[in-house]
Amino acid sequence: MARGPQIGLLIDPFHPFKLLFSTMRIGYVQMEPIFGEVRRNLRHAKNMMRQQNADLWVLPELFATGYQFTAQEEATALAEPVPEGPTTQDLITFAHERRCHIVAGLAESHESNVYNSAVLVGPSGFLTRYRKVHLFSEEKCWFTPGDIPFPVIDIGEAKVGMMICFDHFFPEVARTLTLQGAQIIAHPANLVMPVYAQLTMRARAIENGVFTVTANRVGSEARTDKRLRFTGESQIVSPSGDILVQSSKDKQEARVVKIDPAVARDKSLNPYNDRLADRRVDFYNL
Ligand code: ACM
Repeated sequence: MARGPQIGLLIDPFHPFKLLFSTMRIGYVQMEPIFGEVRRNLRHAKNMMRQQNADLWVLPELFATGYQFTAQEEATALAEPVPEGPTTQDLITFAHERRCHIVAGLAESHESNVYNSAVLVGPSGFLTRYRKVHLFSEEKCWFTPGDIPFPVIDIGEAKVGMMICFDHFFPEVARTLTLQGAQIIAHPANLVMPVYAQLTMRARAIENGVFTVTANRVGSEARTDKRLRFTGESQIVSPSGDILVQSSKDKQEARVVKIDPAVARDKSLNPYNDRLADRRVDFYNL
């Protein structure tokens, strides 16, 4: 069920008599990229982010290029180096002007490889990248599987981890990010299987005690005889699994909620159980 934003009241440990409203605005852009129209898609995403203020925005997977590649040369031609490429540089300028952080999925060229990546940029510039580890379906024809560890970065208000779309099928990803201290998991997506990720990301949020932000796209692409329909329903989920906001299946929109990221530091369920401390790693044959 959709709930209102969470606003947390905190005691500042350095100033114990001062009460703090520790709120952070996190949001996503649900949009319909046009394949190959990189400048247009970037402009569109920025226009949508300008409608509201957020401390952290999440854009969809491959938001600048579109999704359905048909040849390796096409992926190579549309991919950009990170952070030097124009899309990452433009996002950095935007983040600087608007004093926000942005996680955005894009095609990254590096040496002779193309990765399905996400960048994290902020007012001070480029912070990190993630290269999708679990490639989905035909993505395996165009992209090289990720080859760097799952990143978690402290952006000031909270620690942010990144995963991309199909990574949601593998609970190890969200758990790895959580064990590194992530309080918010940014999840750029181009989902084509109905409902799965909207369910699994609620489970990922509950089992790890983290906020999740899934930024999915809408619309369809039919660049081959196989039409791909993207499922929308982008969502932000709280550590207790509540859906704080969820979009429709087909409408483009930017949504922002206020959260208290400190909630995601407490992993306890009751006086006896803690999501992380109770793990019995000696019994997990992974
Ligand atoms: C996906 O990983 N884009 C389904």
